[in-house]
Amino acid sequence: MDQVPIWVLFISFLLLFHTTSSIEPDVRQALINFLGSLSGSNGQAAQAAGWNLDTDPCLDGWNGVTCDKKNQSVQKISLDGLSLAGILDVGSLCTKQSLAASLNYLSVGNNSISGDVRKEIADCKQLARLNISGNRFSGKLPDSLPMLNNLKKLDISNNHLSGDLPDLSRISGLTTFLAQNNQLTGKVPKLDFSNLEQFDVSNNLFRGPIPDVEDRFNESSFLGNPGLCGDPLPNKCPKKVSKEEFLMYSGYALIVLVLIMFVVFRLCKRRTKEEKVDATNKIVAVDDSGYKTGLSRSDFSVISGDQSALVSSTSLVVLTSPVVNGLKFEDLLTAPAELLGRGKHGSLYKVIFDKRMTLVVKRIKDWAISSDEFKKRMQRIDQVKHPNVLPALAFYCSKLEKLLIYEYQQNGSLFQLLSGDQPLGWSSRLNLAATIAEALAFMHQELHSDGIAHGNLKSSNILLNRNMVPCISEYGLREADSKELPSLSATNSRRAIEQTGATSSNSTFNADIYAFGVILLELLTGKLVQNSEFDLARWVHSAVREEWTVEVFDKRLISHGASEARMVDLLQAAIKCVNRSPETRPTMRKVAYMINAIKEEEERSMVFEV
Ligand SMILES: *[C@@H]1O[C@H](CO)[C@@H](O)[C@H](O)[C@H]1NC(C)=O
Ligand SMILES: *[C@@H]1O[C@H](CO)[C@@H](O)[C@H](O)[C@H]1NC(C)=O
Ligand SMILES: *[C@@H]1O[C@H](CO)[C@@H](O)[C@H](O)[C@H]1NC(C)=O
Ligand SMILES: *[C@@H]1O[C@H](CO)[C@@H](O)[C@H](O)[C@H]1NC(C)=O
Repeated sequence: MDQVPIWVLFISFLLLFHTTSSIEPDVRQALINFLGSLSGSNGQAAQAAGWNLDTDPCLDGWNGVTCDKKNQSVQKISLDGLSLAGILDVGSLCTKQSLAASLNYLSVGNNSISGDVRKEIADCKQLARLNISGNRFSGKLPDSLPMLNNLKKLDISNNHLSGDLPDLSRISGLTTFLAQNNQLTGKVPKLDFSNLEQFDVSNNLFRGPIPDVEDRFNESSFLGNPGLCGDPLPNKCPKKVSKEEFLMYSGYALIVLVLIMFVVFRLCKRRTKEEKVDATNKIVAVDDSGYKTGLSRSDFSVISGDQSALVSSTSLVVLTSPVVNGLKFEDLLTAPAELLGRGKHGSLYKVIFDKRMTLVVKRIKDWAISSDEFKKRMQRIDQVKHPNVLPALAFYCSKLEKLLIYEYQQNGSLFQLLSGDQPLGWSSRLNLAATIAEALAFMHQELHSDGIAHGNLKSSNILLNRNMVPCISEYGLREADSKELPSLSATNSRRAIEQTGATSSNSTFNADIYAFGVILLELLTGKLVQNSEFDLARWVHSAVREEWTVEVFDKRLISHGASEARMVDLLQAAIKCVNRSPETRPTMRKVAYMINAIKEEEERSMVFEV
């Protein structure tokens, strides 16, 4: 049996070769690419480490690579202290399925690697240890990082990382978290401290109270963060208006509001029934539709000044509001209230507190939106600030009630201004149009991805503050449903929507643009649409078609010598906005641009006249 046919030898050799060479060429290439990016401009690291396509990482023992003995798969990559100065290309590593399935250890500590940690790191699902300590990593950690739920040890210390950390509390088995000496911001993450063996966030820019670390870590883990306070650091957190006090006052305020409404409803000759206030701190109001709303003081929650600490998940939410914070709520007890208006979408009350402060309470009717969604929506809107958009000071929501609290604007609305006997001059109207267009364009831009348009834009929602500066109120209090455009724009707009069957999220923004066009028409013609069935947009369309354009303008403007040319320009912008097919309407950004151009021309002509 010592004579073996040559083909048997050959086949055995092939089999042997096949079973032992487990790392496919494309994986080798990925590893070499990874090291190539790491080594940066001074290259050659791959060759120095003996990584090349002709050898096998496991069988030929590439430096820094450790394999599983049984199935020859790459388990560890450790490239510490090699003066690597490139970037960490986790894309080429973690998107290779077979590598991602076995790699559980990646350490590149003590090098000069820069750039950010890319989101593809989350594809290396098996990682139990990740060490990028002692490099020049910068930027924010990717939000995908917490998807590494096998992670036990994470060391990002001694880098230039910044921004808020992603939500690391989702990684349940973490035993080591080292993040010292970076520029990280936000709150110290609430990790499972009972599980942690090593924890250090010192020398960063973390702020706020330290979470309960269960006495497992001393102050040395937190030093060097000027904004941190509380145990185990010696400096106590500043005692704000204590949460209990605040909750109590908010409670009073709400009870008072509900009482005021109760009185208002009675005055409004609505059906009233005798209702009992029960002894367990609950107050019962009767709505105009006759249902009861029970609100108990313990339901209140508060968002603190920096808007992030949601205490509990229900009820009265105070947004950023120095005005409401400074208020003595006992004063509310004697506050008189006045019904300002009642519309299709709700009622509006004016509430005066001790002659010092006047608030407006908007009570929203029939909106099929969950409390959670409503809360998220209001908080999102509150994040977007524009000087010409009136922010809500606080809101309340339960299943049955939705209330919003605004500061009262003493100079009334554009609607009132236009219907008064003191006509607004042309340049005031043009300025007003430009300001509103700019504010609305800004809001649309910021809230476009959230799909939150104004939804009920009309001249009575454009308020004038004490300096007669216009601001948009009630932003986002309603989703403009496609069946009904704002401002009672009557039949033809409804038809326009039906013609194109517009139901996309853009349609709510398009409806705002239509509504803004109507406001422009009101400014130009001095005719108000709101309480009349008169369809301004249609009237203007027909007037322009018949070529009697001048007829449409407000006579008072013409007699005061306003420029007809620029009035026609503004009319053209308005007509584009009220175009019957929503898709062809310009965006608010474009509209703002057009109006600004008209305004600039007006200003130039003023200079010439002087
Ligand atoms: C970092 O690497 C250098 C060599 O590149 C070595 O001298 C030094 O001790 C290492 N430091 C740490 C903390 O491992
Ligand atoms: C190799 O074996 C290890 C466990 O020993 C396992 O985690 C890994 O998924 C295996 N890899 C492959 C490619 O089969
Ligand atoms: C991370 O790497 C650095 C440098 O190689 C080392 O000093 C440190 O101990 C490592 N961190 C962990 C948690 O192993
Ligand atoms: C904090 O704890 C560490 C060990 O976890 C210890 O080495 C250090 O001395 C302690 N520092 C203080 C100030 O107690």
